[in-house]
Amino acid sequence: MSDKHHLETTLISAGRKPRYTQGAVNSVVQRASSLVFPSVEEKKRATAGRAKGELFYGRRGTLTHFALQDAMTELEGGAGCVLYPCGAAAVANAILAFVEAGDHIAVSGSVYEPTQDFCTHILKKLNVETSYFPALSGEEIAQWLRSTTRVVFLESPSSITMEVQDIPTIIATVRRIAPQAVIIIDNTWAAGILFDALGAGADISIQAGTKYLVGHSDAMIGTAVANERCLAQLRENSYLMGQMVDADTAYVTARGLRTLAVRLRQHQAASIEIAQWLSLREEVFRVNHPALPESPGHAFWQRDFSGCSGLFSFILKEKLSPQALADYLDHFEHFSMAYSWGGFESLILANQPEEIAAIRPVGELDFSGTLVRLHIGLEHPQDLIDDLERGFDRLKAMG
Ligand SMILES: Cc1ncc(COP(=O)(O)O)c(C=O)c1O
Repeated sequence: MSDKHHLETTLISAGRKPRYTQGAVNSVVQRASSLVFPSVEEKKRATAGRAKGELFYGRRGTLTHFALQDAMTELEGGAGCVLYPCGAAAVANAILAFVEAGDHIAVSGSVYEPTQDFCTHILKKLNVETSYFPALSGEEIAQWLRSTTRVVFLESPSSITMEVQDIPTIIATVRRIAPQAVIIIDNTWAAGILFDALGAGADISIQAGTKYLVGHSDAMIGTAVANERCLAQLRENSYLMGQMVDADTAYVTARGLRTLAVRLRQHQAASIEIAQWLSLREEVFRVNHPALPESPGHAFWQRDFSGCSGLFSFILKEKLSPQALADYLDHFEHFSMAYSWGGFESLILANQPEEIAAIRPVGELDFSGTLVRLHIGLEHPQDLIDDLERGFDRLKAMG
C-alpha cells in the first residue's frame, strides 16, 4: 500500500495519469482489439514494450486496462497487476502459472469451494498433487510442505467458515522450508486493502474484483497483484492462456475504487453491529465474524488487518431440516438469496461446511448447527436487524 497518502486519498488518485484520462476525470474507455501503428518504427517500439504498458494488441490491454492495473499495483504495493475475466480465472491461472507435472501444492483447507474443485479436477489431470492443511495452522504447516511444493495457496478469512489465518507465521515457515514455493493469497474479503498481503510477504494477492472492487453486483473481474519475483511469469502465462477482461468492465472496476473506502466503512460498521446483535441471540451457537473475539483466528485479524468488510457467518444451535430452512430463508425482506457478495445489497445463504470436502477432515471447530452466511450491504443496519429478528420469529413459530 502506498505510504505517501492516506488510503482514501490514494483510492481517489490511483491510476488517474493524464495519459489514461486525457483531460477527463476518469480514464477513457478504450475498446479495442486492433491497435494501429502509424509506422514500422512505432510497431517495433510497441512490440518491444508490449508487456510494459505500450499499446500493442487488445489482449495485452488498452489505456483503460493500464489505468486499472496501475491503480491496483499502487493500492496493493506490488510490481504489477494482471487482469482476468473473473475471480475464479485469477485463482486458476495464478496457480497454473507456477506448476508443472509432478509438482505439489498446499492449499488452506477452508478455501472457496471452486478453488478446491479446480485443484481436484484440473490440477489432478495435470499430475499436480494437492494437499489441504488446516486453515488455522501456524508452524504446523511444515508437515504439508515438500521439496516439490510449488504453490502455497491461502484465503484469509475463508469465505464461509471465516478463519483468519496466521499469515506471517505461515509465510515465515514456507520461506524456511520450501523457499521454491510461490505464496498466493485470495485477498477478496479484505478488498486488497484491509490486509497488506504483499507487505506481509506473500508473492501474489488475488481478488475476485467481482465483489468489493466493482461493488455493485453487475460485473465480473479478477485481479492478481504480484511482486517482482513472480510478475513476469504470472503475466506471460496468463497472456498465453488468453486471460483478459473487456474495457468496460475494467472501467467500472476503476470507478468502484473511488468509493471503496466509504463503502467498506459502512460494511464494517453495520456488519459488526449485526454480528454483535446475533452473538447475543439464544438461537445462535457462534458468530464467525473476524472482529468478534469468539471467531476463529480473531487475534490474527486484530494483529494483521486494518478493518473488516461485510461478509460473515453464524451457526444456529439447531440443525434445521430442509423444510424448516426453506421456510426460514424464503421470507426475508432485505436479504436476497444469491451467490457472490461485496455489492451494495445484503445477501443470505445457508452453507454446510461439512459438505465441503477439504473442510471435513480438518474438524477443528464445531459446525454441527446450520451455518448461515450473511453479506451485510449498505442498508440501514436496524432494518436488517429487524429482518433477522422476524427470521428468528419464524423459527420459533415452527417450534
Ligand atoms: C473467496 C472467493 N474467491 C474467488 C471467487 C471467485 O470469483 P468470481 O465469482 O468472480 O469468479 C469467489 C466468488 O464467490 C470468492 O468468494
